Amino acid sequence: MAKLWGGRFSKSTDKKVDDFNSSIRFDKRMYRQDIKGSIAHAKMLGKQGIIPKEDADKIAVELQNISADIDAGRVEFLIDAEDIHMNIEKILTDRIGDAGKRLHTGRSRNDQVALDIRMYLMDEIAEIRAMLIHALTVLVDMAKEHTETIMPGYTHLQKAQPVTFAHHLMAYFEMLKRDLSRLDDCKRRMNVMPLGSGALAGTTYPLDREFVAKELGFDAVTMNSLDGVSDRDFVIELASCLSMLMMHLSRFSEELILWSSHEFSFVEMDDAFSTGSSIMPQKKNPDVAELIRGKTGRVYGHLMGLLTTMKGIPLAYNKDMQEDKEPIFDSVDTVKLCLPVFCDMLSTMTVKKDNMLKGSKGGFTNATDVADYLVKKGLPFREAHAVVGKMVAYAVLNDKNLDEFTMDEFARFSDIIGDDIYDAISMETCVNDRRVIGGPAKETVGAAIKSAEEYMAGL
Ligand code: ARG
Repeated sequence: MAKLWGGRFSKSTDKKVDDFNSSIRFDKRMYRQDIKGSIAHAKMLGKQGIIPKEDADKIAVELQNISADIDAGRVEFLIDAEDIHMNIEKILTDRIGDAGKRLHTGRSRNDQVALDIRMYLMDEIAEIRAMLIHALTVLVDMAKEHTETIMPGYTHLQKAQPVTFAHHLMAYFEMLKRDLSRLDDCKRRMNVMPLGSGALAGTTYPLDREFVAKELGFDAVTMNSLDGVSDRDFVIELASCLSMLMMHLSRFSEELILWSSHEFSFVEMDDAFSTGSSIMPQKKNPDVAELIRGKTGRVYGHLMGLLTTMKGIPLAYNKDMQEDKEPIFDSVDTVKLCLPVFCDMLSTMTVKKDNMLKGSKGGFTNATDVADYLVKKGLPFREAHAVVGKMVAYAVLNDKNLDEFTMDEFARFSDIIGDDIYDAISMETCVNDRRVIGGPAKETVGAAIKSAEEYMAGL
């Protein structure tokens, strides 16, 4: 096949080079954006009198037809037409002749690809955004059910202080809420229209860049033609946002895996979200959570790959930058795969409240509260800390919890402990007296849920 750029060449491209160079295999997924961009460009060329208005109209009509044909699977792309941009231009020209050949006036594939990838990723961000909002809804709905479900909180994976499952869920709400705002922020910087940058140095044609930006729904146009075709920081930024989002899903997945174990037994995954073993008949494995945790690795890898691809290339466009697509597409695909399955896995699992409560009781999770009790009776905190440390050592030796001490036993350690201690260090009090803003008390988590709902309503 004759190349669109073949004029100065006397030999045809080596077959291996055609395969090597071609990106159609993976960039064909941007065909809608490529066509939309070309229609806007053609319309502007016609409006500016750069190409005949009739040609601009012909181009727009035929590009719509091509779009419908691709939708319907009626188009076969060619490896030796290299990429989506030249494949579509070739089909157009095959169909409408000279008018089609005028489309690329005042444009380069360099600004074209910069446009397409921005548009494509903004569309993907919109989809991921909707999935994230669904995830936030799932978390809030579950949290509402569990403001009294007491469970142990951990530091160093050692029991620390009791919290509630609602509080734990709302922690993830906060994280995913930040992920959402990061995506919005990322989109804001992506939402700048590069067409008109040309290959690198703009163009002599009187393009109306603002018009094209408006047609395509962009907020602004890029302000430097070299930058417009050269940077992929917006791709890297998205890869970073998605990495962070996956990190959050992965941490929660890790917890669910732990909690599903016989040792914890805090939750049980629904049968529909678990898998068995081919040899061990008793097994019910949390594969979904494990795969989410595992897939986080590839999303991180893409971030590092993209950073590395970009770090040493001089301005302006270099073919290296074609390597931006597969990683970011895979990151987007992976997140879109993980988010919905994560939500359904979470909302269908059984929460074993009794085990959570039982778990919160061992391990001296109320030791801080015994110290706080002594402080409220007048002891300086450091002294109280030391007294309770001795109590814990005694309790370990005698294999009992602090709330199982008799009054005589308490008296061995301090003479200011009254029998109001039992109420002061019950799991319910430990949780519900922590009414500080952001704390786990039923009242405060209730307020957090309310403000979460207000936030969601405003989205
Ligand atoms: N397929 C190319 C890419 O993805 C399009 C731009 C190519 N430009 C060029 N001058 N070779 O980056």
